[in-house]
Amino acid sequence: METLSLIYYSPTKTTQKIVREIGQNIGLKLISENNIAENKTKSIPKTTKNCLTIIGLPVYGGRLPVTAIETLKKVKSNQSPVVIVVVYGNRDYDDSLLELKEIASNCGFKIIAGAAFIGEHSFSTNEKPIAKNRPDKQDLEKCRDFARMITEKLKDINSLSELNIPGNYPHKERKQLPATIHPRTDDDRCNQCGICVDSCPTNAITIQETVITNGELCTLCCACVKYCPDEARILDNPIVNTIRENLFLNCSIRKEPIYFVNHIV
Ligand SMILES: Cc1cc2nc3c(=O)[nH]c(=O)nc-3n(C[C@H](O)[C@H](O)[C@H](O)COP(=O)(O)O)c2cc1C
Repeated sequence: METLSLIYYSPTKTTQKIVREIGQNIGLKLISENNIAENKTKSIPKTTKNCLTIIGLPVYGGRLPVTAIETLKKVKSNQSPVVIVVVYGNRDYDDSLLELKEIASNCGFKIIAGAAFIGEHSFSTNEKPIAKNRPDKQDLEKCRDFARMITEKLKDINSLSELNIPGNYPHKERKQLPATIHPRTDDDRCNQCGICVDSCPTNAITIQETVITNGELCTLCCACVKYCPDEARILDNPIVNTIRENLFLNCSIRKEPIYFVNHIV
């Protein structure tokens, strides 16, 4: 094994940070990096023989984001090794890592390790912080620890057992909020710089006379909210406010990353 490829979906960049930290500490040469959220043309990431791939996705409603898996499912591998990672906002990762295992396996990857890490929740605000500033120093140290375990396993990937990942069948039902719920723009603050348009992974935002958001396309990833330099993008719908409040009240106790690594048989 000589090379490394990173495939991830990371609108607000916590998954990116984690996947990169793991990748940088494995000691393989990085040959490709694809953030599906920035891949507006939806081109399919390629895999190479003798290349380790790390796939990282955030958790949405205990599952994987539909927009990400549409692209991911088209990736083809010929039993090259993969490390699967999900990143969640300190509530739970539910069935998402199991879902990612199934998808990666259907793509033809050999799964050698998996992990669930924690990233600042997309709905977190300064007033209602949820996993604020995560991944932090401790999380990044865990990324390096995980990378060391992967490096060990890479020495003998042919004798690794099937990876057991917790989760339920059937998977947790995918719930979607109505299309009327999406970030809005405060026109008094907005200077129409277009950063929200560029940061949106689903092309849901256009600028006409004002900023227009297509609620059918919006996934509530909150990249536009996080990256707006003028704090003009706001997600303050009453239903989201209730979800945010509940997360703030019930998910404030720090959760720690967990790894699953194959045993040698
Ligand atoms: C629509 C939506 C649903 C989410 N559902 C969950 C969830 O079920 N559990 C959880 O802990 N975090 C959940 N999150 C938080 C994200 O998993 C978390 O913020 C993640 O770090 C975002 O990754 P990114 O920074 O790479 O975009 C959700 C976020 C969004 C936007």
